[in-house]
Amino acid sequence: MATIKELSEKKPWLNWVLFFGTVVIVFLIGLFAASIVERRSEAQLYFQMVKPIPDWEPRHEVWGQNFPRQYESYMMTRDTTFESRYYGSVMIDYLEKYPELVIMWAGYAFARDYNQGRGHYYSVTDVHNTLRTVQPQPATCWTCKSTDVPRVMNEIGVREFYSHSWAEMGSEIVNSIGCQDCHDPQTMNLRITRPALAEAFERQGRNIEDATHQEMRSLVCAQCHVEYYFRGEDNYLTFPWDRGFSADDMEAYFDYHEFTDWVHGLSRAPMLKAQHPDYELYKTGVHAERGVSCADCHMPYQRDGGLKFTNHHLQSPLNNIAGSCQVCHRESEETLRQNVYDRQARISELRRITEKNLARVHLEAKAAWDAGATEDEMQEVLQLIRHAQWRWDWVAAANSMGFHSPNEALRVLGTSIQKSQEARVHLARVFSRYDVPQPVQLPDFSTKEKAQEVVGLDMAEIRAQKADFKQNILPGWLEEARKREAAYDQP
Ligand code: HEC
Ligand code: HEC
Ligand code: HEC
Ligand code: HEC
Repeated sequence: MATIKELSEKKPWLNWVLFFGTVVIVFLIGLFAASIVERRSEAQLYFQMVKPIPDWEPRHEVWGQNFPRQYESYMMTRDTTFESRYYGSVMIDYLEKYPELVIMWAGYAFARDYNQGRGHYYSVTDVHNTLRTVQPQPATCWTCKSTDVPRVMNEIGVREFYSHSWAEMGSEIVNSIGCQDCHDPQTMNLRITRPALAEAFERQGRNIEDATHQEMRSLVCAQCHVEYYFRGEDNYLTFPWDRGFSADDMEAYFDYHEFTDWVHGLSRAPMLKAQHPDYELYKTGVHAERGVSCADCHMPYQRDGGLKFTNHHLQSPLNNIAGSCQVCHRESEETLRQNVYDRQARISELRRITEKNLARVHLEAKAAWDAGATEDEMQEVLQLIRHAQWRWDWVAAANSMGFHSPNEALRVLGTSIQKSQEARVHLARVFSRYDVPQPVQLPDFSTKEKAQEVVGLDMAEIRAQKADFKQNILPGWLEEARKREAAYDQP
């Protein structure tokens, strides 16, 4: 084999090849090193605090001074213009759209008003606005609404927090959902600030500290976007997960604990109100099975020049299909949107059937009581109504119109229809026993107003109470909060 020296004597141009080759390699190594340094400074940018953030700092602006991109995108949750076929950030009055709901919630505050949710920015305002809070509520209601919650829990204790009334905490809870709910102010790592989630894990024999980074990208949402209830005298916030996540498992849990949210105003059924089991429904779907997190679809990465950051504008992914879905799917925006709408349309069709069934069965049960039916005759009927409405609500209250897990949503709605029909079969027997002519004549509940009359709500009185609250109580709360926050900034 010839040595380099012999080769270069035979082929003098080879020296030049070696020389330039070396120059190119050195140049490439230099480029690589520069890019590493650049990436590192990119990473440092995130954690270079202009102003250190105190523990339990509830104000988004203070965090925002350090992280302007995340802050500015988060503040986009103020935008209420986007509307998709079933969702978006616009205000939709569900009771006006589906008057059956008023009948289904007779005797419960939701029959007063219930709107489509909007961005995190409005979480506190919307609680001030809703006619549901005219009725006395526990402080537990605030738990998933504000960054002030972890702050106050830290000051007075968790159990103590829950045992206050909603109004007693009015001047404490003023900042909407924000940075502190999901982040540790020292490291900016994701963290769980709501004890109910960690406690539910513990009862399942798991430790939330062991969750992977990808799991945390959903679990931060599962602090609030889940099913929960207020347990016991002191309204201790609890997730009913001990038997599992499905509608059937939670129903069995509530039956076992003999828990009832309210007794129905017409049918007298012992009812359950689902909150918003978004995480639980999602867990049964293919995206969860493949490890796709809530943040993958609702908080996609975005570029700002050379910088990659998490877009904090939490909203319907249909307003950003390119950023959300097309990271993984190659289909066009139109196809993906249509995929979502097709699944939602099927679920919506069954959901409307369940609502019509449920409104009817509550009114028929009332007719049976009026005709003289006994507790014994009605017991089975009432249990079926309880379960049928729980299953409807489990799908209806979960956001996304079932897209998060279409098959499971359809299955659960199917069982709801079966249960309300079974209740009607029992009722038909009661009616023939008491000579009630069938079909039973139902009152007119074709609009929200008519339905509210049927369930005996005095809406003028409720609105007057709300106006009084806004004029005479709320300004005091806000003033007190302003003074407290001014004191945070004193050296
Ligand atoms: C595969 C993507 C994907 C994942 C993962 C996902 N979502 Fe969604 N989500 C959607 C789509 C699509 C909709 C329907 C939007 C529409 O109809 O406008 C939606 C709707 C919603 C809505 C209602 C949005 C609105 O405009 O009111 C909420 C809230 C929500 N999801 C929360 C969650 C939570 C919490 C998780 C995790 C437990 C999650 N999502 C996981 C895609 C996803
Ligand atoms: C609902 C939960 C949630 C809220 C509220 C929230 N974040 Fe985040 N944030 C996340 C998630 C999820 C990530 C992605 C983390 C990851 O994958 O490591 C993230 C990432 C970040 C990062 C790391 C860099 C990046 O962009 O990925 C910073 C910095 C950050 N958020 C700042 C903020 C600030 C400032 C606020 C308040 C204005 C805020 N966050 C509110 C969930 C939240
Ligand atoms: C501290 C409780 C809390 C946490 C944590 C939280 N949310 Fe929410 N979220 C809410 C509430 C409450 C609303 C409804 C606000 C309203 O309508 O005033 C909401 C609304 C939404 C909406 C509807 C926005 C719209 O424009 O209609 C989406 C989407 C959403 N959340 C997704 C998420 C995702 C994804 C996560 C986790 C990364 C998350 N949320 C974490 C409580 C929370
Ligand atoms: C992080 C990757 C990822 C993201 C983001 C994502 N998907 Fe998927 N999606 C998947 C995977 C993986 C599957 C399962 C397909 C498989 O494994 O064969 C899937 C399945 C689906 C399916 C078929 C299953 C079903 O539920 O009927 C649809 C439709 C779908 N995705 C739509 C969407 C839409 C719309 C979005 C945006 C809102 C989205 N995906 C976002 C990875 C993703």
